[in-house]
Amino acid sequence: MIGMRGTQAVSGLVGARFGDDWWRRGVVYQIYPRSFADSDGDGTGDLPGIIDHLDHLGRDGLDVDALWLSPIYPSPGLDIGYDVSDHSAIDPLFGTEADFDRLVFQAHRRGIRVILDLVMNHTSDAHPWFQASRRREAPYTDWYIWHDARGTDRRGRPAPPNDWVSWFGGPAWSFDEVRGQFFHHTFLREQPELDWRVPAVEAAQVAMIRGWLDRGVDGFRVDTFNVFLKHADVLPNPRRRGSTAWARQHHQYDIDQPELPDLLARLRAAVDAYPGTMTVGEMFVGTTEGAAALTGERHLVFDWELMTRPWSAAAFRAAIRRRERAFADARWPTAVLSNHDQPRHASRLAASVPGRTLDQDAVARAAAMLLLTQRGTPFVYYGEELGMGDVDVPIDESIDPPAARVGPDFPWWDRSRSRTPMPWSPETHAGFTTADRPWLRLGSDTASRNVATQAGAADSVLAAYRRVIAARHATPALQDGDLTLARAMPDDVLAYRRSSPSDRHDEALVVVAFGPESADIRLPGPRGRGGWRVLVGTDVDPPPTTEDGRRIHLQPLEGVILVADR
Ligand code: GLC
Repeated sequence: MIGMRGTQAVSGLVGARFGDDWWRRGVVYQIYPRSFADSDGDGTGDLPGIIDHLDHLGRDGLDVDALWLSPIYPSPGLDIGYDVSDHSAIDPLFGTEADFDRLVFQAHRRGIRVILDLVMNHTSDAHPWFQASRRREAPYTDWYIWHDARGTDRRGRPAPPNDWVSWFGGPAWSFDEVRGQFFHHTFLREQPELDWRVPAVEAAQVAMIRGWLDRGVDGFRVDTFNVFLKHADVLPNPRRRGSTAWARQHHQYDIDQPELPDLLARLRAAVDAYPGTMTVGEMFVGTTEGAAALTGERHLVFDWELMTRPWSAAAFRAAIRRRERAFADARWPTAVLSNHDQPRHASRLAASVPGRTLDQDAVARAAAMLLLTQRGTPFVYYGEELGMGDVDVPIDESIDPPAARVGPDFPWWDRSRSRTPMPWSPETHAGFTTADRPWLRLGSDTASRNVATQAGAADSVLAAYRRVIAARHATPALQDGDLTLARAMPDDVLAYRRSSPSDRHDEALVVVAFGPESADIRLPGPRGRGGWRVLVGTDVDPPPTTEDGRRIHLQPLEGVILVADR
């Protein structure tokens, strides 16, 4: 089977920029398939739509190295694809099995790798495994976390086995009348939790993983991986103070169990059997230190440090310092500012400074420079390259059932707002669909905020993303260099150096002005003698340094990447 991958799929990878360390040096682009491009006019994005727009991602476009597809498997859609009913197939909503193989082939032809989103903590309750398990049919009888009721409650109904709560609200246990037992679910009750302590569950997941690798997939984003294991005796969680039912528990027994690293090592070994592949784990409600601890060779773990900070040089400096300390030299971080679960960063950051409303495009350009020059693999969420912000989706149009069901007590927010369709052109529905109505409404700014318009404007957010990605690709220090924060900067300025551990001439300095005033900045010297020269800026015409290469003057929200000038 591995041979098949070698001859068919991987040989299709043409002119890829990096070798087996692409997952470390390259830029990854997250596609939310329902919202990327609709090829068949049903209002929902699909795989042929992605294929039609690969040039936006390839060499003559953004020039990313890999794309990550949010779930494309058959699903009742209650958690919009994160409730999977068949992990090994393509949802007909998105196209055919052949469309998927064509997407991998066409992406590989452009040197772009393909990463799938694996949802292995739970399945949909419509999954045949769950349907068999609730009827106690072998071999699936114990594949889910089933427990007897703990007596009855005051109204005489079966009482749940313990006090665990669901992240989406309400108890984490639901009673199944068919089986006469409770099953566990960290998310919706329609997303029953698999029991990873059952060896057959692990074996089935590994077989599924191999199936996708054999089809040429280059890696996986692993959904909520640190929730896979729960305490075998489902002990009640200790209490603590907090504003939501979830926050009032210390999640000692339902996440991050001590056996997790061993399980991850086994999963990683299965993936590592296929050279040139990677995984990136989604850490669920964890800390940066927790993410670093679970990061392993060839395998990444998302941390959310950069995603939660307001627009301030001090806040980003603190975030970078904490990340650098946690990951240290031995572990490779990721860099992410937006994804399908969180508010989009352009609008979030623009509104994050009390008493100051920032220009959304300017903040998007400056944030792009920070994202793409961190030590770590950057992940770009579709549309962020246009400076897209959250869209006001009225609650009656929301497609995010957890939010719609739970209402104002929902601990998260209505994720519909950051999942709206990609604007491609100034045409009707921004060229996303020819249907009368897209599956989710588009933003109100798509007449100007779209790919075609921005591609033609050198001062656009898109043009800035292209410039900075090109600078990253041309500068090895920006790909895998060390990061050192520069001291003695003006208050509103953040500067850091990226230097290659092996080549002392390979060095870059990133400087971003966060404040409302322009800033005159004295630059720290490069490692050798001499000064710096500007490689690229958020602005199409970045300012030069002074003649000695040791000072630069930046406008508010302006950023530059400099390289040593010798
Ligand atoms: C992850 C996904 C999120 C989903 C949840 C349950 O956090 O990113 O979208 O709702 O897992 O699968």
